[in-house]
Amino acid sequence: MSVSVLGISGSMRYPSETGEAVEVALRGAERAGAHTQYLDLSRIELPFCDGRSDEDSYPESVQAFRGLIRSAHGIILGTPEYHNSMTGALKNALDLCSGADFEHKMVGLIGVAGGAISAVNAINHLRIVMRSVGAWVVPHQVSIANTDAALRRINEETDSPMHERLLKLGGDVAKFSKLIVAGIIDVSGMEEV
Ligand SMILES: Cc1cc2nc3c(=O)[nH]c(=O)nc-3n(C[C@H](O)[C@H](O)[C@H](O)COP(=O)(O)O)c2cc1C
Repeated sequence: MSVSVLGISGSMRYPSETGEAVEVALRGAERAGAHTQYLDLSRIELPFCDGRSDEDSYPESVQAFRGLIRSAHGIILGTPEYHNSMTGALKNALDLCSGADFEHKMVGLIGVAGGAISAVNAINHLRIVMRSVGAWVVPHQVSIANTDAALRRINEETDSPMHERLLKLGGDVAKFSKLIVAGIIDVSGMEEV
């Protein structure tokens, strides 16, 4: 059974360290048999969410973005740590989505921090946002500190522990997505009430 996993980088820098990390995780999803797609938020133009009730009146870029999320079985979200949280760009993109877009999807989280303390705050905030839209976040997560040096190592040493963690994250999202798609994990009736 094939599932699709969408990787999203929430950095507006191009190229970005977050994007590199998300792409490694997508390779893990591919190894677990998933079709993958990568979306770089810096490459699309999304307006600010203004809370309008007529969501169909947002520009086509919003409909296309939400369509990508809806059509994926699993999603990997990556964010740089910005002032102990996710980027405003990623939060805005998620605000443009509703529970119907994310509900019952498996999600894996990656945080990338320039500093030594790593990106656990950004990841924890993302986990809370994902709960709000009814997604299932896998327990395994990847928080990368000191990104400059860390990512060079991740890319050069494909057997490094962090490279392995990223591959495992993608693999976990693909594997759990398959369980939902096959009905082995029955999520019907588990919608937020
Ligand atoms: C506005 C802003 C806030 C930041 N805040 C933090 C922070 O709280 N902790 C940290 O370790 N790094 C922080 N950084 C550094 C980024 O996390 C780091 O440069 C990251 O690798 C950027 O990822 P990217 O290449 O994917 O954009 C901040 C950078 C910016 C621009």
